[in-house]
Amino acid sequence: MPGLVVFGSQWGDEGKGRFVDYLAGQADMVIRYQGGNNAGHTVYANGQEFKLRTIPSGIISEGKPCVIGNGVVIDPASLLKEIEYVEAKGVSAANLHISDRAHVIMPYHKVLDALSEARLGDAKIGTTGNGIGPCYADKTSRCGFRMCDLLEEDRFSKKLKVVLEGKNELITKIYGGKPLSYDEILNDYLEYGRKLKDRIEDTSLLIYDYVKQNKKILFEGAQGMLLDLDYGTYPFVTSSHPTAGGVACGVGVGPQVVTDVLGVVKSYTTRVGEGPFVTELFDEIGDAIRNKGHEFGTVTGRPRRCGWLDLVILRFAVRVSGITAFALSRMDTLGGFDTVKVCVGYEYKGKMIDNYPASLEMLSKMKPVYKEMQGWRDDISEIRNFEDLPQGAQEYVKLIEEETGIPVAMIGVGPGREQCVMRKTMF
Ligand code: GDP
Ligand code: IMO
Ligand code: MG
Repeated sequence: MPGLVVFGSQWGDEGKGRFVDYLAGQADMVIRYQGGNNAGHTVYANGQEFKLRTIPSGIISEGKPCVIGNGVVIDPASLLKEIEYVEAKGVSAANLHISDRAHVIMPYHKVLDALSEARLGDAKIGTTGNGIGPCYADKTSRCGFRMCDLLEEDRFSKKLKVVLEGKNELITKIYGGKPLSYDEILNDYLEYGRKLKDRIEDTSLLIYDYVKQNKKILFEGAQGMLLDLDYGTYPFVTSSHPTAGGVACGVGVGPQVVTDVLGVVKSYTTRVGEGPFVTELFDEIGDAIRNKGHEFGTVTGRPRRCGWLDLVILRFAVRVSGITAFALSRMDTLGGFDTVKVCVGYEYKGKMIDNYPASLEMLSKMKPVYKEMQGWRDDISEIRNFEDLPQGAQEYVKLIEEETGIPVAMIGVGPGREQCVMRKTMF
């Protein structure tokens, strides 16, 4: 029963989409288990660029079922656009299934996301502005809408009346914003329901059927370990569980369905939005990485903060998510430097710390302890065998393995589907 989770081990944008796309070729089903259209997964395949938000990256490997699980929050307007987008690129979305239990992002979630950020001022989280936090908050407050609700006109219209009244009070009286129109939301969302109805189902049944047949299932995470609601740099996190542990709740299967966990790691570190970042570079090296790697957000276009690879984070991710192998992206981007640095531990009040602390105060005082290593040339995009990589790149990979005790199974040497050194079969 091979169930492989591919998730982000840092702050998102590690390259999950491109590795999922590669592995989807060998999988029987691909499932997203959390997050929403705050994600931006870029894939280069079949001579085209795909930027996916809510649809699993497996959609590009046509023919296999792709599922948006109950742990995902769905903006139906954005999803409908995305379906059109992939179909315009000649990819069929006929086999895309949506959990009837997935929560719906409503217009007031986006409004409240923006108003709350504005109110926080300098203390803002730096969200993507897609209403993710307010939608998950309503889910746990038990006043959210699920995809199945869009199909029940009478019930939906009555509940919307009550919920919207409360939201409009919040928007106008607390935040001083403009109230939203009941009729507009009702009409729009019932229309979305009509357009999506053939895809909305109890996907946990479909998945269970595949589990029983011993099929290969790929679980695609969004965001990353340090954006996890519990284990990330709270409150500078997203509102879901990108960790491997998010799968069981976000999909509706028992935890034993997950047999392997592939932690995706960028060969350096990036972060969008606010919050602590111990190895952040504020100098010309940080600028060089950002420019060379075009490190600007897929969703918001914001410049990504850049820094050296942090092994304290990786060891934390290994522990919390049970990583069995790493997929290392962007080894080509990190090429071209005479030397590169890797953070092997933190110094705190004169002592070496090896664990990632919960306290933001402590994090702000952590000093990275670096190992400096020989760099490598950057024209490595045609290499497919580990032994053919320049010695500096090989040493870099070996250091990660030694320091974490986890094998690096896949190495990205370029953004294309085939630009990958495979060292271990994942399925
Ligand atoms: P995701 O959110 O984890 O799927 O990652 P994103 O797609 O947001 O960001 C990763 C970016 O790095 C995308 O633009 C990818 O095309 C690109 N990328 C992924 N792997 C590699 C690699 O090995 N080399 C290079 N040059 N680019 C890569
Ligand atoms: P993928 O799947 C990088 C960040 C935002 C912000 C914080 C909270 O492409 O890796 P939210 O809108 O979720 O409430 O924002 O999380 N964030 C991401 N950063 N990659 C992502 O997704 C992200 N999704 C959210 O920048 O700091
Ligand atoms: Mg991304």
